[in-house]
Amino acid sequence: MSIIVNQQQFHLQTDHSSYIFHVMANGELGQLYYGPRLHDQATYPELMVREHHEAMPAWRLDTPDFQPETLKQEFASLGKGDYRDPAFQITEPDGSRVSEFSYQDFRIVDGKSRLKGLPSTFDDEHDDAQTLVISLVDAVTQVVLELSYAVFPHQDVIVRSAKFQNQGQASVKLDRVLSSQVDLPDANYDLLQFSGTWTRERHLVRTPLRSGIQSVGSLRGASSHQQNPAMILARPQTTDDQGAAMGFNLVYSGNFLDQVEVDAFNTARVLVGINPTEFDWQLSAGQSFQTPEAILSYTGDGLNQLSQQMGDFYQHHLVNPHFAQQQRPVLVNNWEGTYFDFNEDKLVAIAEDAHELGIEMFVLDDGWFGHRDDDKTSLGDWDVYQEKLPNGMAHLAERVHSLKMQFGLWFEPEMISIDSQLYRAHPEWTIKTPKRQMTPGRNQFVLDMANPDVVDFLYGKISGLIETAHLDYIKWDMNRNITEAYSSTLPADQQGEFLHRYMLGVYDLYARLIAAYPTVLFESCASGGGRFDLGMMAYAPQAWTSDDTDAVERLKIQFGTSYGYPQAMMGAHVSAVPNDQTGRITPIETRAAVAYFGDLGYELDVTKCSADEKAAIKQQVAFYKAHRELFQQGKFYRIDNPFTGDGNVGSWQVVSDDQRHAIAARYQILNHPNPAYTRLYLRGLAPDQRYRLNGGKHIYFGDELMHAGIFVPHLLESTQGVEQSADFSAFLVVIDAVEA
Ligand code: DGJ
Repeated sequence: MSIIVNQQQFHLQTDHSSYIFHVMANGELGQLYYGPRLHDQATYPELMVREHHEAMPAWRLDTPDFQPETLKQEFASLGKGDYRDPAFQITEPDGSRVSEFSYQDFRIVDGKSRLKGLPSTFDDEHDDAQTLVISLVDAVTQVVLELSYAVFPHQDVIVRSAKFQNQGQASVKLDRVLSSQVDLPDANYDLLQFSGTWTRERHLVRTPLRSGIQSVGSLRGASSHQQNPAMILARPQTTDDQGAAMGFNLVYSGNFLDQVEVDAFNTARVLVGINPTEFDWQLSAGQSFQTPEAILSYTGDGLNQLSQQMGDFYQHHLVNPHFAQQQRPVLVNNWEGTYFDFNEDKLVAIAEDAHELGIEMFVLDDGWFGHRDDDKTSLGDWDVYQEKLPNGMAHLAERVHSLKMQFGLWFEPEMISIDSQLYRAHPEWTIKTPKRQMTPGRNQFVLDMANPDVVDFLYGKISGLIETAHLDYIKWDMNRNITEAYSSTLPADQQGEFLHRYMLGVYDLYARLIAAYPTVLFESCASGGGRFDLGMMAYAPQAWTSDDTDAVERLKIQFGTSYGYPQAMMGAHVSAVPNDQTGRITPIETRAAVAYFGDLGYELDVTKCSADEKAAIKQQVAFYKAHRELFQQGKFYRIDNPFTGDGNVGSWQVVSDDQRHAIAARYQILNHPNPAYTRLYLRGLAPDQRYRLNGGKHIYFGDELMHAGIFVPHLLESTQGVEQSADFSAFLVVIDAVEA
């Protein structure tokens, strides 16, 4: 049993954590504990002690120590003496913004049901989770609040969300509704956030919490390149290998807020949910509003363990089950190889050569529709560009399929170009305010996904192509953020709903396509990693991690991304050199050695590769396929952190569940003269198991490989040409169990 109820105390118990809250004297919910697993007790006297501070509002005259500001609350409102940022706020018809939600009852159900209209976690077999739903009601408005907690004991994950139902007679306005609040009793934590911009997404930033509000979030209508919804609080001494940490994330792809408020008494309130800026929601009588889900996870065993348990949870309870455990194809994508300049024969030549090298899928990127020769036209006109592909998409797809390769196609469904038939036919489908100029971004504008007609239109176009060309894969791109947020389909007093309704439209389109075509693999993309989040992951099992394919940059991007997301989600491609984003020349072995630790692809014109390069690619693809399950599904361990020290070295490792196979890689950016003696300490092996390295003759026990490490050979100091440079090197070790 993972949910234990004692009177009005609720104990959510996972294998290694406990989360405890109760009904307070005023009928509202108070938080008691989140941390390592505790024995269940009918009461926890030490957690019930209330503090008292002079001159603070108290609940009643005769309860001077019941001071909302010092209480750990479960889902706090503002206006009754707790001055920290609240989890929600409601405006009543008379303008009052004070709420009092009192406990009514609870129910426990086996399993975890999916949310309607939103991406969500699930336990379809009803054998892994239990869900607790607490009902509270505000007596004045008759609005009911349901707080839901799905407990997944084996992955130490709790999934929270909130639902407001207006059972009163009058409309109210939700001014803000977060998904989760956690009030921690102390603030002795580091905040780990994943920040950046286009081509350098999800760089790790680790800072101690300080007094006041610190937050990451997005107001772009997308989760963004700039800040990611994944957030971790770790004790200062916590490392990848040991120590306590809590992970937070949000199953959502639009504006979000992750906030920690440290108050004067050094407590920390953690809020996660839809960003309140640019959000409000009219809740008419009889209507309800459901928040996205927030994910909480605790470990006492370091950040690798935290990432692994959260990643494992997503693979089993968030990703489309059809693909979750399925090996992902090695693909070739023509974008960096041809950009807009291609025709059928050129594409087929790439596919043919790629096929020779063992590549399994050909993906046609941007430029196949309307009359698109650059990024100024044709978005919205999802009909084949006759001049480039006169025989049509079905014919091209047939030629690719006849090679026994899969065929994938790029779309940017949410966008529209002014120079398009769609814009001429439906200018009103473009997001704009009635009286102001539209702001372009990458020469394009955004469709109003809150308008069901737009969603229907896109469904018709995309499903038509899936059927005629028998698509195996779709890359769903999104290359600009929203400006002039406004929908012509919404009344003035509901414009605050637009950005959330936009996301609901995107999710609706995804859900309809997946329901109709469950075997099509989706890869989400937003100029690389601008919408790399759990909302997308629910529909698209993999995501284009970054437009930056430079191996050195990718090391940091993939390392940072690995804190919040499993490697099976990370599209990782080898591209040509000099690299298009950095101009850097790195060896093809290093490029591959970084890309192996994700869903491997090639993003270059293979017909232009030299014989040596082709031989290297062929060998790489064969190597990857031989170890694909390990690379994509193995336990991922970060070893040397490229965000620390001089950033010259990074290393990581994947280990199979049975600990019989592992691959480690150590990357060194610049070679140094007369280097120090260096060891790579492996992780996650069975101490008593014997292993061989790279098929060599020596046998090592797991404990030796982990605690004594392996010697990292020095690199040559001289080179025979730029491709053989001793800079940008990768050292790869395959570790296999052997019998005694
Ligand atoms: C941005 C994506 O991240 C690229 O991979 C490519 O698909 C371009 N858009 C095409 O416009």
